[in-house]
Amino acid sequence: MKYRIFFVGLISLLLQSAGLANTLQEAFSEHFLMGTVWHGQPVEGHKKNHFLEKEKAITAIEFNTITAENCMKPAALQPEEGAFSFAESDAMMAYAQAQDLVVVGHTLVWKNATPDWFFLDKHGAQVSREVLITRLKTHIRTVVEHYRGRIEYWDVVNEAIDTRWLPKQKRFEAFYKPTPWLEIIGPEYIEIAYRAAHEADPSVKLLYNDYGLHNEAKLDFTLAMIADLKSRGVQIYGLGYQGHLFIDQPALVEIERVLSKAQQAQIPLHITELDVSVLPNAWKHRAASVEDRFALAAEFNPYADGVPEEILALQAKRYSELFKLLVKYSDNVERVTFWGVWDGNSWRDYRPMLGRTDYPLLIGRNFERKPAYAAVLQVVAQQEKKD
Ligand code: XIL
Repeated sequence: MKYRIFFVGLISLLLQSAGLANTLQEAFSEHFLMGTVWHGQPVEGHKKNHFLEKEKAITAIEFNTITAENCMKPAALQPEEGAFSFAESDAMMAYAQAQDLVVVGHTLVWKNATPDWFFLDKHGAQVSREVLITRLKTHIRTVVEHYRGRIEYWDVVNEAIDTRWLPKQKRFEAFYKPTPWLEIIGPEYIEIAYRAAHEADPSVKLLYNDYGLHNEAKLDFTLAMIADLKSRGVQIYGLGYQGHLFIDQPALVEIERVLSKAQQAQIPLHITELDVSVLPNAWKHRAASVEDRFALAAEFNPYADGVPEEILALQAKRYSELFKLLVKYSDNVERVTFWGVWDGNSWRDYRPMLGRTDYPLLIGRNFERKPAYAAVLQVVAQQEKKD
């Protein structure tokens, strides 16, 4: 223990003497909020989170904003109609308030983590448009009112837009993702959701959150959707770009396009779920059967026994390049939130393929600050030297 205190002290001395800030939130305080998630106790699956206290301690030091990883999703908050359960999310809120963290609610309307009962009547048949609109509004009103005045931002609608490749035209096309929400209500479910959230708490800032915005067709569609909603008086505040990245994809210029187009459109941007996987991209195998996944595991899980230093160096370079961009666009970037506190508790280990060992965050599996952590702090130090 003594040695650990000595070691931590030594590291922070070294950082100070290198002109670096001591924590992520301090380093970027002039630019944007820095955040992480509340992992909490798992709401799906049975494994207990044995590291919650450690995660809370790191969060309090490094970050000034927190997002609910799972505990504010519809499946967690209203598993059965009318049976709201706020235990885990209230625990998160109590912690966040004690630590003075800006809270981001995630998420009110999604295709995933939403129980089937929303869409079905008691005989198992699909409900009418009217019934679903009522259920949507009731869910949003109850949840947003419960946290009225205590949540700063809500991810209202999550992942409502998809793309397909048009081989003849050789381009992507974006469209509203087919979900029960879209099929039963039509695209108006989006507007209805934002209006209901605003009514329930007029002071909360409402975001639209999605992944894959480096795809230009998706980005343009999303920005046009937000502009259209705004022009019709819907209170939608900003755009959340999830930022589940890999070391080599998407290209930096594609990420920059998201930042610059959001800025041009004067739509505040939040990086909402940042992580940089060091593993091969396995998303196209997400529907693979369990046996297939085992067969794929060797190819898709190369660092089960430890990650080589050169890979961590590449990841540090990637994070550094990314944060340089974020600082460049910081007039329009309000927040950067990591989708996890440390590598030992990351969704990348179980999605899209269960049982892999990834290292996507700034803090490692032994709670050590990784090369990427130092590289990110270094971005601000270099910036200050230039000014
Ligand atoms: C993920 C969580 O991290 C996992 O624990 C859970 O099993 C599935 O959902 N996009 C989102 C997040 O908006 O809510 C997802 O979170 C990751 C992808």
